[in-house]
Amino acid sequence: MFLVFNDPQAVAQYVSERLVQVVKNKPQTILGLATGSTMEPVYQRFCRDAKEQGLDVSQLISFNLDEYIGLSPEHPQSYHYYMNHHLFDHLDFAKQKTFLPEGMPDDVDAHCQQYSQKIADHGGIDLQLLGVGSNGHIGFNEPGTPFNSRTHVVHLSEQTRLDNGRFFDSMDEVPSRAITMGMKDIMEAHEIVFIATGDNKAQVMLDLYESAVDEQMPASMLKEHKNTLFIVDKKAAALLPATACQFIE
Ligand code: F6R
Repeated sequence: MFLVFNDPQAVAQYVSERLVQVVKNKPQTILGLATGSTMEPVYQRFCRDAKEQGLDVSQLISFNLDEYIGLSPEHPQSYHYYMNHHLFDHLDFAKQKTFLPEGMPDDVDAHCQQYSQKIADHGGIDLQLLGVGSNGHIGFNEPGTPFNSRTHVVHLSEQTRLDNGRFFDSMDEVPSRAITMGMKDIMEAHEIVFIATGDNKAQVMLDLYESAVDEQMPASMLKEHKNTLFIVDKKAAALLPATACQFIE
């Protein structure tokens, strides 16, 4: 069942309320975080709500889903930069507790292995935020990624490079590889909040709805997760049958 909200702002309000509630209940919550356009209004609203309510985020631990290989943390299109810009710099986050895969590690394979291990050592992710690519990817797990994968290097599909090209000055600058948390790491999160907004996500929402649980449609794995909320706005829900939707006014 998809929870359908009017627009991205209504989605952001709902998700922010859930985040605030989770952090109030457990200040040491382990968050799994995503980047991308979908999350921008969510982080903006969360920053506002957290400030208004004096929420203590200093004990939070976070693990981001992914990072481009070859971009330094200072690069404006790196996900390190994105997170500082949209979330961490606005609130009292303890930076040493905010983890992202590194874009330029000395030993990529060792780094990937250590990243999944670090998540496990912290007891796993309490709440994972997820966006979705137009090809159904979650994190940077492209179609065909095994459901039992851990953090690994991925060669980005042409579709994903084209989709993300909008953030770069030219297509030549769009990295062709990234490090992503694996499908199994995501599946082990205790709670998942999956979000899709906008016209450009309508087709993939229909594909997801119609798909069996299949590695060719990575987001379909979530149908087997016990505690996933599928949250969309009206534009992303445009092609879904009404029977699959619960409209939230
Ligand atoms: C980013 C990530 C990706 C995005 C997805 C949607 O950390 O994990 O899976 O969530 O590519 O991106 P937007 O929100 O820009 O459409």
